[in-house]
Formats: sequence, structure tokens, C-alpha cells
Amino acid sequence: MDNTDMKQIQWFPGHMAKTRRLIASNLSLVDAVVEIVDARSPLSSRNPEMDHMTKNKPRLVLLNKSDLADERTTQQWINYFRRNDSEALAVDCKSGKGLKSILPTLKNTVLKELMDKRERNGMKGAAVRFMIVGIPNVGKSSLINKLAGSKRAKVEDKPGVTRTKQWVKLDNNTELLDMPGVLWPKFEDQSVAVRLAFTGAISDDILDIETLAMKLLSYLAENYPNSLTERYKIELSEEDTGLDLLEKVGKKRGMMISGGEINTERAAITVLDEFRSGKLGRITLEAPPQKEQ
Ligand code: G4P
Repeated sequence: MDNTDMKQIQWFPGHMAKTRRLIASNLSLVDAVVEIVDARSPLSSRNPEMDHMTKNKPRLVLLNKSDLADERTTQQWINYFRRNDSEALAVDCKSGKGLKSILPTLKNTVLKELMDKRERNGMKGAAVRFMIVGIPNVGKSSLINKLAGSKRAKVEDKPGVTRTKQWVKLDNNTELLDMPGVLWPKFEDQSVAVRLAFTGAISDDILDIETLAMKLLSYLAENYPNSLTERYKIELSEEDTGLDLLEKVGKKRGMMISGGEINTERAAITVLDEFRSGKLGRITLEAPPQKEQ
């Protein structure tokens, strides 16, 4: 992708260091880490430091929002994570699909060694504890709500009342730390930022909205042409630029401004909204690295 027109994203080192320390201190309290990534962009939606930070902990990767991702590529990603020493599952926190497998997978696969050891040492019933980590907007709160539901302690919804760290008992021997670990994404490569902006994980003002939509349309024309022809009833040509595609969508939807010009800003907002809400179909924005597939 061409990144010349991208605004540099600013992060706040002080804030990040504090979060990192918070996660590190909570990590020492848990037996396993559940890391959520976005199934549409599993590598771009994770902080690479997480590997290093959690290297001594068994980990389960959840490919969330799998309802919006291409099923075949999601399976390739699961295989990729498994080959790289992390158990992985596809889930959908909106409908709840896949969530029932989380606890059995944690206990029978991810924490098998610990469970066996505990059994040998006569500590079979001891609680296993885990925490949920991930970049913002990936679905951490949705997952905690789905898993803990009514078991979560009520916290007054008043300014100044802070939710303190607490454990939620999910079953006889499983406890969830009711406080997600938030790490920001890291952009070694600006195309990561573009994918995160496509999914709405980071603010779309890193680029002007039309440029963002044009980049998305070009990706779709190349990788999921049917999603465009079916949704917008447009014809595609090999020579189409992102702007051509945006104009075709705007024209088809009757988005005009005075003087007969196409309102490309409205068309851009429409395309991004429809992609994010799954109206363009199930689309994945990156495939696992070639050699690893
Ligand atoms: P976070 O704690 O990691 O920041 O994420 P959060 O749970 O707040 O989820 C961010 C957004 O993603 C929410 O949408 C949430 O509903 C949506 N989401 C979470 N899991 C899934 C999933 O598996 N599939 C789909 N399609 N969406 C999911 P929102 O628009 O911010 O809020 P709302 O729609 O819930 O009102």
C-alpha cells in the first residue's frame, strides 16, 4: 500500500509504559493468557510485544469477530497460530459462537501440563486463573461480559466510582480476572494502520476518509470482487483505480452533488460503514505469511 499520504500516528510513551507495567503485574497472578485478535486482521490487530510479555505463560489466541471474516482464511490463521505454539479458536462474541469451547480448551489443551501436575500433587481442584488481553476495540469487554455475565459484581455507574480488580468465578475451578489488559497496536509497517482503520479499530482520521475507502475498494476489487459486484451492482475493470471504484459506487447509489459531480465523501462513508457491519460479506484483510501456510 502507498503510505505517503498517511498522517503519522502518535502514541503516548508514558501511558504505554504504565499499561505495560499493569499487564506485567497482573500476568504474575494468572496461569494463562487469553489474547483476543480481530479475525479479519489477526497479525495487524495484535501488539508484537505480547509474545515477549507472555512468553512464560500458556496462551490461547481467540480470533474474534469471526462472523465478519472469511471462514477459509480464519482456518488458515488457526493453523498458523497452532504451528507457532499457541492454541487458537475462532469466536464471535456478538452471537456467542465458539465461546463454549474456550474453557475446555484452556483446561484440556492450553493448561494440560499444569492440570496434570496438579493432579499428581494432589491439587486437582485448585482454581486456574486467566486474564484477557488485546488491543482496543477487539472485543475484550464483550468477551468478559459473555463469559462472566451475571456473575460480574455490580459496580455503580457513577463518576468517580472505579471498578477495582476482581476475580469472577466461571465454574468450580476457573477464575477470570475481570479487568482486560489493553495494549496498543504497534505499527512497524503503516499498512498495519490502514487495516486497523478499515476495521474501525483506530480512528479513521489517520487518512482522509476518501483515501481510506479507495484503498479498501482496491483491496476488495483484487481479493473479493464478488462482494463489490453483488452489493453495488457495479462492473469492474482491470484498470479501475480506487477513485474509479468510489465513483462507480457513488453513481450507482445516486450520491450526487450539484453540478452533476459524484459525492465521493458520502460514498466513502457508505463503503466503510458497510464493510464494518459485514454488509459486503465475510472479508479478511490479511492472509498468514506465505511460507508458514
Ligand atoms: P474492547 O473491550 O476490546 O475495546 O472491545 P468491545 O468489547 O467494546 O467491542 C468493540 C466493538 O466490537 C463493539 O461494537 C462490539 O459490539 C463489537 N464486537 C465485539 N465482538 C464482536 C464479534 O464477535 N462480532 C462482531 N460483529 N462485533 C463484535 P460497537 O459498535 O463499539 O458497540 P455495539 O455495537 O456493541 O453497541
